[in-house]
Amino acid sequence: TAVAVLHPTKGNQASGVIHFQTVGDGKMRVTATVEGLAPNSVHAIHVHEFGDCTAPDATSAGSHYNPEGHPHELPDKKERHAGDLGNLQANAQGKATLDLTVDNITINGSKNPVVGRGVIVHEKIDDGSQPVGNAGGRISCGVIGLPK
Ligand code: CU
Ligand code: ZN
Repeated sequence: TAVAVLHPTKGNQASGVIHFQTVGDGKMRVTATVEGLAPNSVHAIHVHEFGDCTAPDATSAGSHYNPEGHPHELPDKKERHAGDLGNLQANAQGKATLDLTVDNITINGSKNPVVGRGVIVHEKIDDGSQPVGNAGGRISCGVIGLPK
């Protein structure tokens, strides 16, 4: 497994945690809980290239993690950035959960390893458009690490 704690970027409140769990057969279960979102809002969530949240606006995390050179897509499309996890839907309390199983990433294997990369939650919805889903600024950032 791998885990990232998501911290708000400057001027934002979104925080949470995301877990990556290898479930066999080349599949990875991705579960996340994020709080501090606007009620009933929708937010893009992606794995970005760099595990670096040092910039106040998290631009230090780079762009979407895309070692295969695919176009940007939502998770229902097979050929997409390895980091494309789609969207989080917040409830009336501003809390969102994600439970998604993907087949294009590994923790630290040969196929698109995510450990040491970044996770970004954006201010807006990922609409699936090129080049990166038109999701606006970065409201939360975390670095994917190995747990005990
Ligand atoms: Cu992103
Ligand atoms: Zn993407």
